[in-house]
Amino acid sequence: MSVPSEKYERNSSSPKPRIDALYALSQTPRTLLPGCLGLFSAMHPLSLPGFPPLTVGPLRLASSLILAPLAGHTDLPFRLLCRESGAALCVSEMISCHGLVFEQGKTHDLLRTVPQERPFAVQLFGGDPEIMARAAAIVTSLPVDLIDINMGCPVRKVVKKGYGAALMKDPHRAEAIIRAVCARTSLPVTVKFRSGWSDEHIIAPEFAAMAEEAGAAAAVIHGRTWAQGFGGKADWGVIREVKNAVSIPVIGNGDVLTRADGRAMMAATGCDGVMVGRGALGNPWLFGPDDRPVSLAGRMPVIMRYLQLAQQFLPLPKVLFKVKNQTAKLLTGLSGAASMRQALYGCDSIEAIAAVLHDQHAGEER
Ligand SMILES: Cc1cc2nc3c(=O)[nH]c(=O)nc-3n(C[C@H](O)[C@H](O)[C@H](O)COP(=O)(O)O)c2cc1C
Repeated sequence: MSVPSEKYERNSSSPKPRIDALYALSQTPRTLLPGCLGLFSAMHPLSLPGFPPLTVGPLRLASSLILAPLAGHTDLPFRLLCRESGAALCVSEMISCHGLVFEQGKTHDLLRTVPQERPFAVQLFGGDPEIMARAAAIVTSLPVDLIDINMGCPVRKVVKKGYGAALMKDPHRAEAIIRAVCARTSLPVTVKFRSGWSDEHIIAPEFAAMAEEAGAAAAVIHGRTWAQGFGGKADWGVIREVKNAVSIPVIGNGDVLTRADGRAMMAATGCDGVMVGRGALGNPWLFGPDDRPVSLAGRMPVIMRYLQLAQQFLPLPKVLFKVKNQTAKLLTGLSGAASMRQALYGCDSIEAIAAVLHDQHAGEER
């Protein structure tokens, strides 16, 4: 990617840093990823010690560390940031099969990707096998490499309609959905589900066996029950039980905040891959070989890259609040983070956010 060499784009009042230029200035040399050109100007190699390549159906991933779907967070800029940082695969936010099939514009926005992101996984949710199958057919005609079916979302308005985690209570319907989706796509299909409905109803091993029988190429198991929501502790013991119950790859999920946690999950459960959710927010470095830098200077390349990607791909200024939230998370743990956050929340553009951070960075260098 060509990066403008000028440092500032001046207007009549004040100097404004160009994000591309700031990004170039804040770049430290990093390893180029073979085969990923264009947007991916600087990337970590995707092979990661402790996370061997993972094969899901016909899809071979360079490592086994994957970004989880996180509605409201895993949009294209954040996914690209994680891919560039080393994530082997990123999953879209959950996408309604009804929205897709009945052409609701916002739903299509969630499918936006670029060639450099691939492999790319799309997660579908819904409760009607035929509509899920039609949605799968649409997704298959797009530049997508894997379809994941959401059978774990605990949110009330989703469960109330019989979607997400409600399908764990209705395994016949769940099976019909998996079969219908597999019949209408040539892509590998994975199913993401929970340990069960409640502590008294841990059914993940049987559910995984059903998914395998119905055609799933891998099982993604979040070790919490529906009743737990996102609280409490994930039960990695259930992940091990799922691994013992099926012969397809098992991707474990829940409470992985560091690479060490991911390796511990693999060792404790025998799972083949690790999916990271909340631990990746504010910490895309988790997917690479190095720890999250402890100084703003060390984080600037990734933060500026995020701002650059957000500017390129998000409908601004409509979703500026989202950019501020992601940027604020990238500052977690830094000295002066609170005052930087306060300043960036007052910004009215990406350029202004970049200027705040650049000034702070320059001040610290002095
Ligand atoms: C804000 C938020 C949004 C989420 N959105 C989705 C989603 O769209 N699809 C899905 O399957 N899971 C979703 N999840 C669940 C995560 O993918 C993951 O299973 C869960 O957070 C446990 O992993 P963690 O402990 O690594 O965060 C979401 C979780 C959070 C906190």
